[in-house]
Amino acid sequence: MPGAAVLGTGFAVPEREVSNHELAARLDTSDAWIVSRTGIRARRVLDGPGVATSDLAIAAARSALTRAGVAATSLDLVIVATCSGDHLIPSTACLVQAALAARRAAAFDLNAACSGFIYGLSLADHALATGAARHVLLIGADALTRHVDQEDRATAILFGDGAGAVVLGRGAGLLGVHLGADGRRAGDLVIPAGGSRRPVDGAAIAARQHKIAMNGPEVFRAAVEAMAAALTAAAEHAGVRPANLRWVFAHQANARILRAVAERLGVTLAAFPMHLERYGNTGAASIPIALAEAEAAGHLLPGDLIGLTAAGAGLTWGGAILRWGGAVA
Ligand code: ACO
Repeated sequence: MPGAAVLGTGFAVPEREVSNHELAARLDTSDAWIVSRTGIRARRVLDGPGVATSDLAIAAARSALTRAGVAATSLDLVIVATCSGDHLIPSTACLVQAALAARRAAAFDLNAACSGFIYGLSLADHALATGAARHVLLIGADALTRHVDQEDRATAILFGDGAGAVVLGRGAGLLGVHLGADGRRAGDLVIPAGGSRRPVDGAAIAARQHKIAMNGPEVFRAAVEAMAAALTAAAEHAGVRPANLRWVFAHQANARILRAVAERLGVTLAAFPMHLERYGNTGAASIPIALAEAEAAGHLLPGDLIGLTAAGAGLTWGGAILRWGGAVA
């Protein structure tokens, strides 16, 4: 039974670039520290109050639809993987659906933090395999700089904003997938206030509880372990060896995390496309942005065997093996 194949990709990042030097002018940090500990040199940031995650998601989606040659009216499903949508309600996917005039499409958001794109790919694959959908628009979009504590040097340096999109049709593209979670680690990366447990009030704001709080070293260790294990499990499911992958698109958290994952998998780091140097950690957007950049550069050829792997807040993780191209009519 055929599942999902990628028909086209697109991405969007805000114009405003914030360099490490700009951050170092107001935080107790330095370009040298940030580059050596993370590999990040700059990030793109939503500028001003009038712009939001959906603006990036819509721009990425338009470009993916154009590249796929698929009309928005042919979409059956719009999934936006995000943990930083425009609103709690409505979903960002509904805003995207309206902007694209994708009138036939059902639309919802999915929150698996930085693993959201791979979770979404698995859901889309099922929808396509069962015949529930013929065309799915899957977007990873986050504006985490809106939620970062700009006074916390350990997190303010990490995140950037962006969106990446893929249009999926029927095909034998997704060969193996593995998803997982460990909710016991929920406290390692959390925005304590702003939900039903702790509505935002003056006291929450004074305690910075409406901003991201992170146990960096713990997330680092867990991410390395989870990303390597998830890709290994997906590869086993697909019957391929990680060393035979042409590319591994790994969530762009930190260059040191990616190096450690590559080592564990026995895959050369040269097979890991990296844009975190320019964009920082863009959450659920990082993998589809990397796919779109690689496709636009002509680095993805029909038949290429590629891996995806991610870990994020929750803790969540996901791995997937794709054969590039492979769509059926
Ligand atoms: N500039 C200068 N010094 C800093 C900075 C900074 N920006 N941030 C932290 N430090 C200091 C700390 O205060 C600490 O100082 P101390 O020894 O005097 O107490 C020292 O550097 C070491 O701190 P650690 O937190 O142990 O530093 P580490 O080497 O672990 O690097 C980092 C921190 C970069 C956050 C790392 O832990 C990391 O990348 N973790 C993964 C987090 C991540 O990727 N989160 C994204 C979301 S989840 C995901 O995408 C998988």
